[in-house]
Amino acid sequence: MNNKLSSKISGIATYLPEKILTNDDLSKMVDTNNEWIVSRTGIEKRHIADDNEYTYDLAVKSAVKTLQQENLKATDIDCIIVSTTTPADKCPSTAVKVQSKIGAKNAFAFDIQAACSGFIYGLSIADSFIKSGQAKRVLLIGAETMSKVTDWTDRSTCVLFGDGAGSCILSKATDECHKVIAIKLYSDGDRYDQIVIHNSEKNNCRGHMTMNGSEVFKSAIRCMGEAVNDILNENDMTIDDVDWIIPHQANARIIKSLCEQNDYPIEKSIISLQNHANTSSATIPMAIDYGIKSGRIKSGNILLLTAMGAGLTWGSAIVKL
Ligand code: ACO
Repeated sequence: MNNKLSSKISGIATYLPEKILTNDDLSKMVDTNNEWIVSRTGIEKRHIADDNEYTYDLAVKSAVKTLQQENLKATDIDCIIVSTTTPADKCPSTAVKVQSKIGAKNAFAFDIQAACSGFIYGLSIADSFIKSGQAKRVLLIGAETMSKVTDWTDRSTCVLFGDGAGSCILSKATDECHKVIAIKLYSDGDRYDQIVIHNSEKNNCRGHMTMNGSEVFKSAIRCMGEAVNDILNENDMTIDDVDWIIPHQANARIIKSLCEQNDYPIEKSIISLQNHANTSSATIPMAIDYGIKSGRIKSGNILLLTAMGAGLTWGSAIVKL
């Protein structure tokens, strides 16, 4: 392995399905209301895939945007990694379907599953492939159709999730201004039962979810705090060296508590969940894209990514965009 090589991220793109489900729409389906959802989570709406629209469709639409943004042909890609917890089929992978649909004939392709932390796990694998020379251009996608594993009769979970995909390219860094600086990953299988997507069907949802909301809430704050503090310390950095914190977009109260408990300035955090709810492994690229499009994140900025999800899995990354 050549340790001098670094990877860089470019071509961040998002795809959200057309159909929008508002909090008011949800209040006609379960005993909830807009005021409760906004005050307890910050979420205002979520996008929902059609019945015949699958995770690979969302992944393809985001990937095509990434390729266009980077002026790349699909045949320029030599590896496709899709992070998803909601594939259409258990086998074959979502990634090979993306490969076929975009015509990435020169790529090897596979899925990973680390729930809401999946994008950071995927980033770590893609970064290693670039550093080792095993791939030159990795298409990394986080894509989910959470609506297909949501029990729409359970108000404690159905208000929290949405569908969508986010993607980017990992390639060799050619200067110090744009590169992945560090990545750190963690898991704790002893807490696997805090969030589970079961194989069995319930209330017409394919693989239903159970979650201990208050435990997940506390774990998210603790784990993301640990991941951020560890990666800063290990790289001789402080939060002052960071332009933007990009936390997993599950609940605005989790992000606010994360910042308050660790003395991170809340103004440095990007919050996009009001627009799309929790799209699991797609939230990090979506939030970066939102930060860029809203004019806050600029080229050369230092981003601190962090996520926590089922497993439990969690992690962080420092990226010079
Ligand atoms: N509408 C109205 N009332 C509701 C709803 C709803 N959708 N859901 C729950 N309630 C009620 C409860 O029944 C309870 O009523 P009670 O006091 O009469 O028993 C009351 O609201 C308070 O419920 P809590 O669970 O204590 O509410 P809390 O403030 O903890 O918020 C929430 C619940 C939003 C689920 C929160 O715990 C949370 O966000 N947890 C993290 C979950 C998460 O993000 N999971 C995603 C996967 S992992 C990840 O992405 C980090």
